[in-house]
Amino acid sequence: MVYEATATAPVNIACIKYWGKRDTKLILPTNSSLSVTLDQDHLRSTTTSRADESFEKGDRLWLNGKEEVVKPDGRLGVCIKELRNWRSVEEEKDSSLPKLSQWPLRIASYNNFPTAAGLASSASGLAALVASLARLYQLPQNASQLSLIARQGSGSACRSLFGGFVAWREGEKSDGSDSLAEEIEPQSHWPEMHAIICVVSDAKKGTSSTSGMQRTVETSTLLKERLKIVPERMKLISKAIKDKNFEEFAKITMKDSNSFHSVCLDTFPPIFYLNDVSKSIISVIEELNKSNGKIIAAYTFDAGPNAVIYSLKENIPKVLGAINKFFPTSEESKDPFKLTPVDLPENFDYK
Ligand code: DP6
Repeated sequence: MVYEATATAPVNIACIKYWGKRDTKLILPTNSSLSVTLDQDHLRSTTTSRADESFEKGDRLWLNGKEEVVKPDGRLGVCIKELRNWRSVEEEKDSSLPKLSQWPLRIASYNNFPTAAGLASSASGLAALVASLARLYQLPQNASQLSLIARQGSGSACRSLFGGFVAWREGEKSDGSDSLAEEIEPQSHWPEMHAIICVVSDAKKGTSSTSGMQRTVETSTLLKERLKIVPERMKLISKAIKDKNFEEFAKITMKDSNSFHSVCLDTFPPIFYLNDVSKSIISVIEELNKSNGKIIAAYTFDAGPNAVIYSLKENIPKVLGAINKFFPTSEESKDPFKLTPVDLPENFDYK
């Protein structure tokens, strides 16, 4: 009998950014965040986990074919330990279950996009890992409960356990038991919503999210102002999504991206994630919206220079037209600027 399970998880892109931890061990955020999960077919991680009594002691993991060390008290180790604990609870309840919780694991994970290029690879990677182990262990917990564990692997990973529009509630409890992700609306609620990923650079990013946000918490005074604004934004954007009000959704998304990058600049020493191409994309989107007399596209940037542009399906040709006009893609000139239009997924279920 082979005990093996595979799961995939897509990338999610935040409209309200998570930036700052109030507890670095449990990964409890300083603010709630909200994201859109992208299409399963484009940017995703796929993870296969196998448990076998005959494996040599110790868990082993390969990321894109390269072995990574699994430290028992590191983020990965913690996720594995917590899922094992949940499995052993089931084994205690039902003695006929094989004792998978006691067997060593072998885990292989692949991303179908550049790792750590500001494209949230840790989010999809950790979510796929948690989903594959949950399936291997046949756990009864739902996606929100699993998000409590994915969160401890990488904060943003908790949101990738759902498709569609997802909120990560910061929670109030010091043990983190209420800091979890939940679906605001499924993708099917607003299928016209599309995302365009503009890969400005696929190089590994300079300052990691983990160290960058910690430096922000320690040194930025502007972060305190940001934390006052976010709760209202969470309410407004949730309503905009429910009402399918694109202009409101777009305005909040762009403002929150700008607020996040301002806080990065206010960090000491400062963190620069946007480059000149990123800033030109902002100008192009501003011009496009102005010339249409309404907001038809919204930009947002994570911890890197790549842009994600949200737009409704009917306006995608206009957005691509504007982007291609100002940033023509040319293989011959080795222009690093590539475009990948991405559809959002049908309801994504971790099982
Ligand atoms: C800018 O989830 O990568 O993408 O919890 O330290 O692993 P850790 O950080 P991570 O940070 C993501 C930051 C962001 C914003 C967001 O996705 O909300």
